[in-house]
Amino acid sequence: MESYYGLPHVIDARQFDVDLLERIFDEAKEMEKIVDEGGCDILQRKRMISLFYEPSTRTRFSFELAMSYLGGTVFQTENAKEFSSAVKGETLEDSIRVLCGYKPNVIVIRHGEDGAAERAVRVSGKTSIVNAGNGKEQHPTQAVLDIFTVFKELGRIDGLSFAMIGDLASSRVINSNCYLLGKYRPEVIHFVSPKCAQVKPGIKEYLQRHSVRFSETTDLREVASKVDVIYQTRTQKERGSNFSCADRRLGHFVVDREILQLMKKNAIIMHPLPRVDEIPAYVDEDRRAAYFRQAANGLFIRMALLKMILAPSKS
Ligand code: CP
Repeated sequence: MESYYGLPHVIDARQFDVDLLERIFDEAKEMEKIVDEGGCDILQRKRMISLFYEPSTRTRFSFELAMSYLGGTVFQTENAKEFSSAVKGETLEDSIRVLCGYKPNVIVIRHGEDGAAERAVRVSGKTSIVNAGNGKEQHPTQAVLDIFTVFKELGRIDGLSFAMIGDLASSRVINSNCYLLGKYRPEVIHFVSPKCAQVKPGIKEYLQRHSVRFSETTDLREVASKVDVIYQTRTQKERGSNFSCADRRLGHFVVDREILQLMKKNAIIMHPLPRVDEIPAYVDEDRRAAYFRQAANGLFIRMALLKMILAPSKS
């Protein structure tokens, strides 16, 4: 497979370096203009299979619309877990081999199992694979759009302080974000979670190796006034977590009025969404609530990634 940008697959946030991220962000800014103009045809005759074995609103629609805005064609199944031949017992590998026989240019896959994206790459031949979230491991394109959002909102990553809150043990988004933050020089990451949902040891080791300072607490009030980015997550009930972020016996995790009072005037609140009870709706009125702007950035980043994976090489 030929990829001018050296981006044949998007599997793991660790594959990106700062230079490549900057190029993606530059492309994403161009994509905002292309969307304003109603689209273009640079991916005409390119075909994307959208293969989601788990529910999705943002990732799936932003990828499918991204392909449409760039002139490509999308093929998808509604809930691959139920309506593909997986229900008959077909392995992921066999499904990917068969789909790749139909010569799509890219398969965007979301799957509930760790390792699923790598397994797909092993049998995908010349077809690019994009990991749209796998198991508890990674959601790399979410992390790229998150870092893009911080740059757009605050202009930098280096020197900023982050709070990452909620079900950190099960969040693939937190993993991928930590991997990307390790490429920069943030001041500190404060992990705020119930004791039963602390960030994984492997992530802490990675941050230590990359000289990123971090702390752990169960009380968001301890760090809310010190951080530039509050990154909230929901409890991943579909992965076996069974606590509520609103349960005050476990600590303080909700971005409520008390937290809004404590926060810096120019800090931002992010969330990959969907949210449940960890950010009340009244927070949406606060200009620091960046999560809907963050979600919108997903379209531009996914357009940029698809272009960089699929567009003909520059000479
Ligand atoms: N943030 C995110 O991955 O949302 P979806 O599950 O709706 O795609």
